[in-house]
Amino acid sequence: MKKIESYLECVRCHKTYDIGELRYNCDCGGILDVKRDLSHVDGQELKALWDSRWGLKRGVEASGVWRYRELILDVPDSMVVTRQEGNTRLYPAMSAGTWAGLSNLYFKHEGENPTGSFKDRGMTCGTTAANLFNAKYVACASTGNTSASMASYAAVAGMKAVIFIPEGKIAYGKLAQALAYNGITLQIEGNFDDAMSLVQDVCKELGIYLLNSINPFRIEGQKAIGIETLQQMDWEVPDWFVIPGGNLGNSSALGKGMMELYELGIINKIPKIAVIQAAGANPLYTMWTQHTPFKAVKNPETIATAIKIGNPVSWEKSLRAVEWSGGTVEEVTEQEIMDAKAKLDAAGIGAEPASCCSLAGAKKLAEKGIIGKSEKVVGILTGNILKDPDAVIGYHQDTLMEHYGIKGTFANKPIQIKPTLEAVKAVLHR
Ligand code: F0G
Repeated sequence: MKKIESYLECVRCHKTYDIGELRYNCDCGGILDVKRDLSHVDGQELKALWDSRWGLKRGVEASGVWRYRELILDVPDSMVVTRQEGNTRLYPAMSAGTWAGLSNLYFKHEGENPTGSFKDRGMTCGTTAANLFNAKYVACASTGNTSASMASYAAVAGMKAVIFIPEGKIAYGKLAQALAYNGITLQIEGNFDDAMSLVQDVCKELGIYLLNSINPFRIEGQKAIGIETLQQMDWEVPDWFVIPGGNLGNSSALGKGMMELYELGIINKIPKIAVIQAAGANPLYTMWTQHTPFKAVKNPETIATAIKIGNPVSWEKSLRAVEWSGGTVEEVTEQEIMDAKAKLDAAGIGAEPASCCSLAGAKKLAEKGIIGKSEKVVGILTGNILKDPDAVIGYHQDTLMEHYGIKGTFANKPIQIKPTLEAVKAVLHR
């Protein structure tokens, strides 16, 4: 296969820059895309190459990201920082699908990645780019999963991770990972948006490599979620992808990946992309439904702390993905998120609260008749069930009302009994 030329391009004014230039924004302030000249690439040949790599046991291409390296980043094996990320399962929704009123619903479980979230796909590419730029320090602001992932990949690469998290506002499992993987963990007074603004200043001033999804190489890695899903479906394109939206990098990546596959003729149908936001952190939803210019949400609030973001950096790219695909943006309430979570968990699949926006959103869109009941739908589950045990216990103990106004509708409370056979029988005969 001939070399594919790539460069950076501003999403706003389309000014281009060399791929080797270290920058995250255009001079006009817009964010950057990695663009490729795909005009001479044979899509069918590429697809056959990817299929030949399926199931490799070792080497860079055993990764569910680097399997698609031609569309990820042109880099020698020796520079790649990988934990064999990706290769996550695609599950039929089972009872959760029945509950949502959808007969052809699947979940792509990105919580099965090495650090328990989809961020590992972006991070393998981001830290590899950091390697190319010879970075010794990498930094991010995070609601928890990006920082857990970055800390791990930085450790693997021998880099130092500097993490900015909103104090007291990230799930415990994620904070634990940042500390465990030996990141320098800075707790900021303020929310994610404050941390995001600070980390950009810090990186500029101190020359630290920024690994938030404003970094265009993060987005390149995350494209592999959609590509791998299609490969698992033998390249049959679903009618819909339903995906949670926070900082809006992941939906941007999903859309960009589909655009490239479409341009290459690897797919000839466009899957609609539905971005689901929490009602308390819904700037894209407001923009979409009210046809107003983008406006940040000042004090975002949601139990799904992963997506408690009011000023998402990638909104332009995400909107582009929704518009290109003929998709939509929906919002879900706190109660809808946690009830969906209870159903997804009870189906034996399980995911952290933000991920459950996919099920809650799919159900809502089916009820509205926007998604047809027998259409093929893939929900992206972004994080592992173990990331946020507090939310799970709170729901099942029914103690979330005061703080979040959430009822334990489908609560499965633990039952305390005396240590006797009689007591067990009494419960089981109930
Ligand atoms: N789901 C989970 C579990 C997440 O951690 C995130 C984002 C999202 C969904 C939303 O994805 O931001 O690309 O729209 N978490 C980031 C973090 C912000 O810092 O871990 P997005």
